[in-house]
Amino acid sequence: MAHNILVTGGAGFIGSHVVRRFVQDKKYHIVNLDKLTYAGNLENLTDVENEVNYEFVKGDISDSVLVQKLFELHDFEGVIHLAAESHVDRSISNPLEFVQTNVIGTVCLLEAAKNWTKGEGKKFYHISTDEVYGSLGSEGFFTEKTSYDPQSPYSASKASSDHFVRAYGNTYQLPFVISNCSNNYGPNHFPEKLIPLLINNIKNNRPLPIYGKGENVRDWLYVEDHAVAIKLIYEKGRIGETYNIGGFNEWKNIDLVELLCDMMDEKLGNQKGTSRKLITFVKDRAGHDLRYAIDATKLSKELGWKPSLTFEEGLEKTVDWFLGNEKWLTDVTTGVYMNYYEEHYNNR
Ligand code: NAD
Ligand code: DAU
Repeated sequence: MAHNILVTGGAGFIGSHVVRRFVQDKKYHIVNLDKLTYAGNLENLTDVENEVNYEFVKGDISDSVLVQKLFELHDFEGVIHLAAESHVDRSISNPLEFVQTNVIGTVCLLEAAKNWTKGEGKKFYHISTDEVYGSLGSEGFFTEKTSYDPQSPYSASKASSDHFVRAYGNTYQLPFVISNCSNNYGPNHFPEKLIPLLINNIKNNRPLPIYGKGENVRDWLYVEDHAVAIKLIYEKGRIGETYNIGGFNEWKNIDLVELLCDMMDEKLGNQKGTSRKLITFVKDRAGHDLRYAIDATKLSKELGWKPSLTFEEGLEKTVDWFLGNEKWLTDVTTGVYMNYYEEHYNNR
């Protein structure tokens, strides 16, 4: 009998890589529940859409009737919950949407899963972010024991959803696991986020908007390495535990931007220094967290995971993917995307 998993948000950036990895393993049957918001894209999944162990359901995780029906229809062994509103800037302009999906949507899933918690071997796996820990100064790392201190509406909504998952574990014995990951990058990344936005703007000779002085630090992880970690944690992670996932790969924004500019110049056959001229410092993000850095020792010691690529290798793969997938990029950056772009960056 197939092992049925409900994946939520599987048409998004990270979700599509996770779905692909599980569908390739024929012992699993994947039901992908996704609302197809601006960030969800079935083009991310064309290579798996006809697989016999894959099914797509368009729907909202906060539609409790639909979610309950799916639980009745499929005898899920597990849930891998990725669906979320994920962009910090959007959470600053529209926090309620983040509460609706990230908090209420998560609780709807937990309510449905509550009924199967008595069964052996089930697992509710909640995918979360390192942003729940707040911001670091110039030293130190987030560990699984770091206290929560979310600073943006996005991270507050994710922290809340993490708390609800743990509360269901404590109150209803829901067998859960949570992972908190650092910044992902790679193919299919929606171009509102820093790296794909820069690639797209360099391609189109547009200014590269850098918030503040570009001194904020992020820890970058190639999306496939995150997907590998998620499969490992789903299969072997201990119930009730939290695992931090990170790239051991910190970059100050401005250094990352310069590296990317030089790589793009080489790929596009531009004279060195051409793209750096597009760098434009703009008004900072409100409440901008200074630094994130993950200590992923627990995951590497317990489950033997480590990132497989250097940042330069991952970034090159990413640039090659975006340059080789013009249609994908054009499709997602026309129409509604341009309205967002203009509202967010004009006169900044
Ligand atoms: P994304 O924005 O690219 O994709 C989100 C997906 O969720 C989309 O397919 C969207 O259609 C779907 N979705 C949104 N609201 C929904 C709803 N109400 N019902 C059903 N589907 C809905 O996000 P991502 O970057 O792939 O992130 C996935 C998860 O990983 C999120 O939970 C995010 O918080 C977490 N995370 C992301 C990163 C990162 O760097 N991108 C790092 C750590 C953790
Ligand atoms: O740390 C994990 C988080 O990483 C995830 O939980 C979020 O879903 C994901 O979006 C990401 O959040 P960030 O805010 O760190 O990512 P973003 O790509 O938006 O920004 C990365 C850094 O670049 C951050 O310091 C803000 C800065 N930035 C971003 C944009 C979009 C700019 O300087 N200019 C920009 O135009």
